[in-house]
Amino acid sequence: MKISVVGCGYLGAVHAAAMAELGHDVIGIDVDQAKIDALAAGKAPFFEPGLPEILTSASASGRLAFSIDTSAAKDATVHFIAVGTPQKPGSHSADMTYVDAAVDALLPFLKPGDLVVGKSTVPVGTAARLAEKVRTAEPKADLAWNPEFLREGFAVKDTISPDRLVYGVSPDPEAGAAAKAVLDEVYAKALSEDTPLVVTDYATAELVKISANAFLATKISFINAIAEIADVTGANVTELADAIGYDARIGRRFLNAGIGFGGGCLPKDIRAFGARAEELGRGESLAFLKEVDAINLRRRQYVVDLVVDMLGGQAFEKKVAVLGLAFKPDSDDIRDSPALDIAVQLNGLGAVVSATDPHAISNARAKHPQLHYVEDAREAVKDAEIVLLLTEWNEYRELVPADLEGLVAGKKIVDGRNVLTSATWADAGWEYRAMGRP
Ligand code: UGA
Repeated sequence: MKISVVGCGYLGAVHAAAMAELGHDVIGIDVDQAKIDALAAGKAPFFEPGLPEILTSASASGRLAFSIDTSAAKDATVHFIAVGTPQKPGSHSADMTYVDAAVDALLPFLKPGDLVVGKSTVPVGTAARLAEKVRTAEPKADLAWNPEFLREGFAVKDTISPDRLVYGVSPDPEAGAAAKAVLDEVYAKALSEDTPLVVTDYATAELVKISANAFLATKISFINAIAEIADVTGANVTELADAIGYDARIGRRFLNAGIGFGGGCLPKDIRAFGARAEELGRGESLAFLKEVDAINLRRRQYVVDLVVDMLGGQAFEKKVAVLGLAFKPDSDDIRDSPALDIAVQLNGLGAVVSATDPHAISNARAKHPQLHYVEDAREAVKDAEIVLLLTEWNEYRELVPADLEGLVAGKKIVDGRNVLTSATWADAGWEYRAMGRP
C-alpha cells in the first residue's frame, strides 16, 4: 500500500520504518528538518533498539522516504497521524495543536478513497470531529482511529507484532467496512499471525488507548502505595508483588515498585483523561487518577528526602552520583523522567550531582545544563558520598560493590528501582536502601 506517516517522533518514525519493512511504500513527514535529514540518511534521531536496522533496510529497499513537505503525501492512500499530544501549557488537557495542524495540512491532498488513520492518543470525541473535517474536504475520503500501544525500548517489535489491533471506524456501515478492509491490508502480516483484532466505534477506540495507559499507571501507583506501607512495617514489596502476581487475575507485570512512572505518555495521559472526564461532567469517575498521580510524584520526593537523610540531614556540597537519567531503560527519552527530576531537585538543594546514562545524556544536558554529566558509572561515582541507581539499565543492574569500592567516598547506595540484591551490598558494608524493601 502507499502510506504516509505524519509526525516522525518516537511513534511515527518507528511506524514509518516498520510499515516499509512490511512491504508498503512509505513517506514519512515531519516539520523538523533536522529529524527528516537524519531519517532520510538512514539514521535514527533517537535511541530505539532495532530502529537503525529497519531504517537501513527499508531505505535500501527504496520503499521509505522522508519529507518536510506534506504535499509528499499526495500519492499515498492511507495517511497515519502520529504527532504528539503533550500536556497543554497551563492545563492538564492534551494539547491538540499538532494533531489539528497535521490533519489540516493533509486536507488539500486527499483523494476519493483515501483513509486518514489517527494513531495519536487523543481526548475522546476527537476522531468524530476530525472525520467531519476529512469528509468536508473530500466527501469520498474517510477517517479511522487505530491507537498505538507500543512501548519505547520495544517499539519495533510492538509495531510489527502488536499484542492487539484496534480499529475505530465510521458509524456508516459501508464506510466502516471499507476502512476495515484498508487497515486489514496494512496489517495483513500481524493478522495472519492471529493478532487479536477489535473493530469498534471511534469513541471506544480512543478510550481503549487512554484507559490502557490509565490502568498501567494505576497498577504502578498501587504497588508504590504498598511500598510506602512496606517501608514503615519492614515488609518487602518485591516479595509481596511476586506473591500477589501469581494470581492470574492480578499478574506480576507492572508491579515493580520504585521511583514511579514517567515518560511522554503515562503522566500526561492520566491528566488529560481526568481533564476530559471533567469536560464531560464526569470528573468524579476519574478522580482516583489524581491520587495515582500524587502517589507517583511522592516517590520522587521520597527519594530526595531519603538521600538528604542518609547524608546526615543536608545535601549542600555533598557529592551525589546519579546512575540513569532516561525515564526507563533502553530509551534516551527524558520526558518527565523521575530519575532526572530527582537529580535536578538534589542539585537545587546544593548537592554536587554527577550524572550518567548510557544514552540519555545529550537530551538531559539540553534540558538541564546545570547538572554535571559524565560518560560512565565509574566516573560518576568517583568521590561520591552516595550513589543513586535511578534507571535500571542492564549495566547498572549488574553492579556489585567491588565495581564501586576504591572510587566512592562513602558506601551509601539508593536502589530506586529495586534491582540490586540487598544482602550483597549490606555484606560488603554498604548502607543500602531500596523502595519498600528492607
Ligand atoms: C506506555 C505504555 O506502556 C504503552 O503501551 C503505550 O503505547 C505508550 O505508553 C504510549 O502511550 O505511547 P512507555 O511510555 O514506553 O509506554 O513506557 P512503559 O513501559 O509503560 O513505562 C512507563 C513508566 O513506568 C517508566 O517510567 C517505567 O520505569 C515505569 N514503570 C513501569 C514502573 O515504575 N514500574 C513498573 O512495574 C513498570
